[in-house]
Amino acid sequence: MLTTRLALLSLPFAAVLASAIPFKGFQQKVKESIHGPPSGWYKHAPAPKHHMLELKIALPQPKFPALEQHLWEVSDPSHARYGAHLSKQETEALMAPHPETLGIVSEWLALHGLAEEDVIRSSANDWVTIRVPVGLAEEMLTTEYHVYKHAQTGESVIRTMSYSLPEILHDHVDLIQPTTMFARFKVFKSTLHWTNHVQPADSSPSGSTITGPAGNQVDARCNTTITISCLRQLYNAVDYNTSATNGNVLGITAYLNQSANNMDLQQFYQLQNPSAYGSNYTFVSVNGGENNQTYEAAGEEANLDTQFGFGLTWPTPGTFYSTGGEPPFDPDLLEESDENEPYSYWLEYVLSQDTIPQSISTSYSDDEQSVPRSYATRVCNGMAALGVRGVSVIFSSGDGGVGDGVAYPDKPLEHQCYSNDGLKTPMFLPMFPPSCPYVTAVGGTINIPETAANFSGGGFSNYFCRPSYQDDAVLAYLATLAPGTYKGLYNSTGRAYPDVSSQAVNFLIIYQGQETLVAGTSCAAPTFTAFVSMLNDARLSAGKSPLGFLNPFLYSTGYTALNDVTGVPTQDVRLRASMPRLDGILSLDTVHPTSKS
Ligand SMILES: *[C@@H]1O[C@H](CO)[C@@H](O)[C@H](O)[C@H]1NC(C)=O
Ligand SMILES: *[C@@H]1O[C@H](CO)[C@@H](O)[C@H](O)[C@H]1NC(C)=O
Ligand SMILES: *[C@@H]1O[C@H](CO)[C@@H](O)[C@H](O)[C@H]1NC(C)=O
Ligand SMILES: *[C@@H]1O[C@H](CO)[C@@H](O)[C@H](O)[C@H]1NC(C)=O
Ligand SMILES: *[C@@H]1O[C@H](CO)[C@@H](O)[C@H](O)[C@H]1NC(C)=O
Ligand SMILES: *[C@@H]1O[C@H](CO)[C@@H](O)[C@H](O)[C@H]1NC(C)=O
Ligand SMILES: *[C@@H]1O[C@H](CO)[C@@H](O)[C@H](O)[C@H]1NC(C)=O
Repeated sequence: MLTTRLALLSLPFAAVLASAIPFKGFQQKVKESIHGPPSGWYKHAPAPKHHMLELKIALPQPKFPALEQHLWEVSDPSHARYGAHLSKQETEALMAPHPETLGIVSEWLALHGLAEEDVIRSSANDWVTIRVPVGLAEEMLTTEYHVYKHAQTGESVIRTMSYSLPEILHDHVDLIQPTTMFARFKVFKSTLHWTNHVQPADSSPSGSTITGPAGNQVDARCNTTITISCLRQLYNAVDYNTSATNGNVLGITAYLNQSANNMDLQQFYQLQNPSAYGSNYTFVSVNGGENNQTYEAAGEEANLDTQFGFGLTWPTPGTFYSTGGEPPFDPDLLEESDENEPYSYWLEYVLSQDTIPQSISTSYSDDEQSVPRSYATRVCNGMAALGVRGVSVIFSSGDGGVGDGVAYPDKPLEHQCYSNDGLKTPMFLPMFPPSCPYVTAVGGTINIPETAANFSGGGFSNYFCRPSYQDDAVLAYLATLAPGTYKGLYNSTGRAYPDVSSQAVNFLIIYQGQETLVAGTSCAAPTFTAFVSMLNDARLSAGKSPLGFLNPFLYSTGYTALNDVTGVPTQDVRLRASMPRLDGILSLDTVHPTSKS
């Protein structure tokens, strides 16, 4: 009956287009809605009808459970299929929507005047992208868009509180955005330790050593200033040489137009890894992302990530992705368009490639609650698809402890940790994507011996259930909490993170020609990823598969090569009082590329 009706509808397109009757005869039904704009945002004005929106439509992936099953099998060292990662084609077959879905959604788009050539499809056909004026989007979604402004930053976005679709489409569309999503990016880099001039940090005489986590002697100056050499000493890879030609590649992602300055990179190499001097990385622009080589355009985050990531792993080839999107926009400028948070753009790009770097570091994330559950679920599924293809997807855990990811904010912590559903319930705020169970989240440590850094992010997801690989570790951690501790502030059944941690304070980088110290879990993510890349290097050179999705391996056997960091910082009373000691779950920080895998 359904197909007949559609077949009928598909005939008089031209006639229907003119009047743009949305699936006439079918009931419009609310697909998604929110109570009001998240705190910080207020409704400013009706959206200009001609303003362009880049709408992304996620089509359901009915075979995702099979994809996930493959992921568990190929990532579990005790499974016969460990390391048997899937090809692009095999993965896409498991992400693809049902053919009936493709048909009915095309019919609906056609009714609104959108022909196949107006539609951009992802490689797996699971995302449909269209560019439409606000007026048409309002008609298609039976909604009204408004300009919302952010009280503090003045940023504007065009969003709505609710959107509807013909009831018949509800099972054929997972979500459409931008509609109800107010996600914003925060760069995970603490500026606390930022200084343009490096102070001689301690008086340790050169040549003096202290005992590192791997039991070896480490340059004593590493206790206060972290260099490439320090990390190789600390994590036991001093003598490990990577290959330039075994197919191993390290990926670093950037957003917000963060540019990795090449002059800074070369200066850093001269100082910290002279053999890498003169080498370069491959730059990939996704969705208009920039890598502006003007000195003034250098980004601290991008400089840090490339200098330490590529510096640690040289001569392993490096790829630097800069993904554009979601700029703060001026609604009066007609040429601007409003887009989504950019993970989905990066995922769409990278999943369309035949080969992908085996280890990829990202130091950007957002409050989980600011990303709608439906959207977070789809982005998280994309991370699973990367895992099934053999990629280790690694994120920094955030710089706000159990708070909203902002390090050392002006406001007291207790004023920030609220639900944004209109109820203002006090709660810890997990970060996404670290809260996705298919990524590895890296927290931060400080000093030797290492203790948790006082900003290191952690928490429990409110969207994603605890994956079985961490049942033992998390249940053991929860059992250490006195009954009632943090009750109501976190969801003990959710996916817990971070999974691992590494050094995150006093990293010596070059920024606009100056030696500069930086801190944050932004330091930890590229560091941990670089050591994973070294492990992948060893495996590839030995004819083995890359490690792929790490967590099932880390929680079952991998942790034995890592050092359990259980100490909390003594200097920070405030965060200490509110930080569940997630570092105690599995806070690990060393890998031994030479002795493992
Ligand atoms: C490293 O520095 C910390 C903080 O200053 C200090 O407490 C610790 O004793 C130092 N470690 C060693 C081995 O000297
Ligand atoms: C790594 O390379 C350096 C410099 O070529 C060399 O001295 C060292 O022996 C190499 N290490 C190993 C383990 O091969
Ligand atoms: C290195 O790569 C960047 C980005 O692709 C490019 O802008 C720059 O010119 C390259 N530098 C050298 C020395 O090849
Ligand atoms: C690069 O950055 C500089 C300094 O911020 C800016 O003046 C210039 O317009 C930028 N170039 C491009 C191509 O965006
Ligand atoms: C990045 O740069 C491009 C080109 O200059 C610009 O259109 C876009 O708005 C910028 N994005 C952000 C997030 O600043
Ligand atoms: C708690 O987490 C589970 C997933 O484990 C989720 O289904 C549930 O909605 C969460 N509860 C709240 C109140 O967020
Ligand atoms: C966190 O620790 C650093 C020392 O590493 C200290 O300077 C800073 O004040 C602490 N932050 C807070 C909020 O206590």
